[in-house]
Amino acid sequence: MQIYKDYADLESFIVSRNIKRILLVAGKSMDRLRIADFVKELESKGETSFVRFSSFTPNPKYEEVLEGVKAYRDNSCDAVLAIGGGSAMDVAKCIKLYAYKDGDGEDGSFLTSENSANDIPFMAMPTTAGTGSEVTRFAVIYYKGEKQSVAHDSLIPDLVLLDGTVLVNLPLYQKKATMLDALCHAIESAWSVKSCEESREHSKKAITAIMDNYRVYLGAKATTYDKMLMASLEAGRAINITQTTAGHAMCYKITTKYGFAHGHAAALCVGVLWRWMLEVVDKQRESGAECGLPESEMSSVACASRVEMTKEDLDNVRMKFDFLAECFGAHTPAEALHIYEDMLKELEMDLPDIKDEDLDILVHAVNIERLKNNPIALGEDDIRRLYQELKA
Ligand SMILES: [Fe+2]
Repeated sequence: MQIYKDYADLESFIVSRNIKRILLVAGKSMDRLRIADFVKELESKGETSFVRFSSFTPNPKYEEVLEGVKAYRDNSCDAVLAIGGGSAMDVAKCIKLYAYKDGDGEDGSFLTSENSANDIPFMAMPTTAGTGSEVTRFAVIYYKGEKQSVAHDSLIPDLVLLDGTVLVNLPLYQKKATMLDALCHAIESAWSVKSCEESREHSKKAITAIMDNYRVYLGAKATTYDKMLMASLEAGRAINITQTTAGHAMCYKITTKYGFAHGHAAALCVGVLWRWMLEVVDKQRESGAECGLPESEMSSVACASRVEMTKEDLDNVRMKFDFLAECFGAHTPAEALHIYEDMLKELEMDLPDIKDEDLDILVHAVNIERLKNNPIALGEDDIRRLYQELKA
């Protein structure tokens, strides 16, 4: 994959690949961005044309992807360019993956038939600093109301263009939420059971960049825009290796039920999860493990009946929390958590108004598959306690 910051590099890529007609998968916000001028200028040179595809919604549907595939085929396109946040990326990825499949896919067959790589050049430009989707092999679409996770190595774009000016007009809440999404990707990746040296390198780059720059970034200083796009990309690289964990598994219903942005909900869930995990580790004191949470801060959230962790598991989790402390410039894991919690307070991230009767709905909506990536196993009671901790 090539990462560029200059539109001239994008043009060189298009010319060198002899690309003639590009399916441009982008929402309406694209028209206000510099890339819109680039598209017009390139078209005016007469060698390349663009076919705009914008018929998709947030949480994009399989049927919308089919429309995109049809547009690609009917217009004899020979490349895909995605411009946008997570939804545009998800749709573009699936169009690329499905474009050469047999039939029109209306029976749902594109989801069930085997995926294989194809030679369609795939370019992407993120318009938020958050999802990191421009560097991951994952896409999410919905079929008959059910979430479908699509994963394939060929979903990773050949070229990514980073243009910090896309962030200039992003509303403050969106800036905060998307930045927190990237931060949570980096944190969850660091403690994921699939975390490795390579993924942790990406996590560290992302966390350091976000913590060093977030105040200036939210204060709308252009000098930080490129750094935040890069931090989001690094966090995306981290979860491309490890995927996310219980924080993301818990956050999806918070977004739909209480109208919180994805990154806002993820940040709150990661906060209570992190505190709970430190408490669980500290309760295993006979094994000599302590994260430094004072007794006065030990709430009732850590499950007393938890099966004792093996020394190996405990050492592994402690190593990850020590690593996170290092990333946050903290002396102890507990201090790193405090830095994180203080940041959420400083950003004034509201808590959801969770009613007691909502708890069952929330607990049963958790993605069990994603929980398996968490370094400490959570039972239904643990998840219920964590949601209770989240209540406003
Ligand atoms: Fe996320």
